Amino acid sequence: MTETLRPTPDDLNRAVMFLRAGDLVAFPTETVYGLGGDARSDRAVARIFEAKGRPSFNPLIVHVADLAAAEALAVFDDNARSVAQAFWPGPLTLVLPLRPHAGLSPLVSAGLPCVAVRVPAHPIAQALLRAFGGPIAAPSANPSGRVSPTRADHVLAGLSGRIAAVVDGGACAVGVESTILGFDPAPTLLRPGGLPAEALEACLGTRLAALAEGADRPSAPGQLASHYAPAATVRLNATQAEPGEFWLGFGGHCPAADLNLSPAGDLVEAAANLFHALRQADSHAGAGGRIAVAPVPDHGLGCAINDRLRRAAAPRSGA
Ligand code: TXA
Ligand code: MG
Repeated sequence: MTETLRPTPDDLNRAVMFLRAGDLVAFPTETVYGLGGDARSDRAVARIFEAKGRPSFNPLIVHVADLAAAEALAVFDDNARSVAQAFWPGPLTLVLPLRPHAGLSPLVSAGLPCVAVRVPAHPIAQALLRAFGGPIAAPSANPSGRVSPTRADHVLAGLSGRIAAVVDGGACAVGVESTILGFDPAPTLLRPGGLPAEALEACLGTRLAALAEGADRPSAPGQLASHYAPAATVRLNATQAEPGEFWLGFGGHCPAADLNLSPAGDLVEAAANLFHALRQADSHAGAGGRIAVAPVPDHGLGCAINDRLRRAAAPRSGA
């Protein structure tokens, strides 16, 4: 039985007790819900992969309460420190050289010499990290390959019975996963996300390198072509629905849409609504159903939205 916990001191202590025992607790961040386990425990990290049904040991993001805790795990250069100071806590993950003797389970970084670290801003995530007093490894709290959860009931729909608890903190404000930035060798956008790349470029005073298409290996599961997949098929850039399609609109040009990501054409609102809307569209479309999605502008948070939509629309790899 998966317990639903409230964000009270007593319930957070119960969550900490589960984490200390090597059990898994899902918790809200401002981006999406994370599936948390003690990042120092091989057993806890292995259980994360098992609960998600991840096909392989892809590296996980390590969540900590502040920059000082992140510097204990990873080596920061000047660029990394300046973006961390500008945007943490917040929807930004940094991939940095792993500090020797950081004490993390090697499974967290999948044996790589670098680690992904993030300081989330959500008050419940902050409270949990401080009460736990250690690093929490947390991928998005969904079965591998499915749509990320932005509400506690999304977590339960995918993982009920497979994890000890979920802390219910309501809907996530940002709604898409964190932006992932690497520095090897130049600042590189590894995944568009909740922090617009434009903001990072302004802070660093340089353009970000984009990840080469067809890079040798997907270092991020979010980079696998078919990811964030609903059960229905997805057609993009749809300016109208074909018969039988569920039409997901954006902006004021689609009054006939079955559901609109943001009638006002606001990308921040659309990002916050994206995964819940995909789930709603999926349940309306039904098995073998079809979802059509209106065009979304490709700037700011629109880059992260379009990235997730392309993956939702990609041919499925089987599982
Ligand atoms: O917003 C988020 O980032 C959410 C919340 C829970 O924090 N987490 C999340 O985790 O999206 P996940 O596991 O679904 O995606 C993490 C991404 C993966 O695509 C992973 O491959 C990449 O981060 N990553 C983790 N460690 C890495 C490393 N050492 N090198 C390169 N990429 C890494
Ligand atoms: Mg994920």
